[in-house]
Amino acid sequence: MEITEKLIKTHSLSREEALELLKHTKDPAAVAKLARAAVEIRRRYYGDKVFTRGLIEFTNYCKNNCYYCGIRGGNLHAVRYRLAEEEIMDCCRNGYDLGFRTFVLQGGEDPFYTDEKIAGLVKGIKKRYPDCAVTLSIGEKTREAYRMFRDAGADRYLLRHETANEEHYKRLHPAGMSLRARKQCLYDLKDLGYQVGAGFMVGSPGQTPECLAEDLVFLQELKPQMVGMGPFIPHHDTRFAGEPAGSVELTLFLLSVVRLLLPKVLLPATTALGTMDPCGRERGLEAGANVVMPNLSPVKNRKQYDLYDNKICTGEEAAEGFECLRQKVASAGYRLVSERGDFCGADE
Ligand code: 5AD
Repeated sequence: MEITEKLIKTHSLSREEALELLKHTKDPAAVAKLARAAVEIRRRYYGDKVFTRGLIEFTNYCKNNCYYCGIRGGNLHAVRYRLAEEEIMDCCRNGYDLGFRTFVLQGGEDPFYTDEKIAGLVKGIKKRYPDCAVTLSIGEKTREAYRMFRDAGADRYLLRHETANEEHYKRLHPAGMSLRARKQCLYDLKDLGYQVGAGFMVGSPGQTPECLAEDLVFLQELKPQMVGMGPFIPHHDTRFAGEPAGSVELTLFLLSVVRLLLPKVLLPATTALGTMDPCGRERGLEAGANVVMPNLSPVKNRKQYDLYDNKICTGEEAAEGFECLRQKVASAGYRLVSERGDFCGADE
């Protein structure tokens, strides 16, 4: 238990210490202790607030071929769609009326959406909804493109690093992609003044405790304002179709650890967590998460944004279920708020 004390007191872990900590993932006393400490420190910075982000999955075309992902370019069975600008604006209007004050534009790396088109979209949304934050989640771009989006008004950027271990990165991605390029994007984004989200899947094929220890070390080095973590879930049209899914328990454990390493971090209880466990979202909050990201995409396209099998897209997951989600969050002892929900610390 010494190692849990160390984390709770110092908010840091070396690679070796992280490995030691990861031996306790199935120890109920350690799990409970970390969750208690995580919830306590979150309360110190964010009170009982839970922030919401309206997720708009605006294109599932992708030129990349990440081996785990259902919308990878090489998957010829994926039924492709992209939303028109008016449709995206309709999603925002719907979301705004429901109380969302952050819109996340997420998509595959779709060459149709040139840098100029993305900048135009961001400008349009910011002009219409100046009190809202715009988050982009559209993959690896040049520094110039990131600057253009930032000048257009984008506030935040989500780009999971996926794994901080070189070998593991190669197992998950084709030869054209590299961990180095990924990290460079994240540092560029930080440098340009974005609130940045990194993150990784829990239990992706080939992930070892050493990989996870390296993820935790990398997060301490990058100091992102947001961290997205969800269990890996196999997709039937990928080489990993037969691999086991990642564990909900390990995901919850890591949520608590990341909350303690980066006390002010914005930490979503992810859709993948909700897909693996009907109570995943609430359990995420109880482990230290403070963000939920319901889906604002048009219902007709939801099934097509098929990252992994059985991805939930209705009920509380969706904008239509928002009231129900609000009640669930309230009965878990938290308050779903209509705010931008910015990172609360000085930018680093
Ligand atoms: N299981 C879980 N998460 C996945 N993602 C992509 N494919 C899967 C999968 N099979 C995650 C990646 C990506 C994010 C948008 O979705 O981490 O960054």
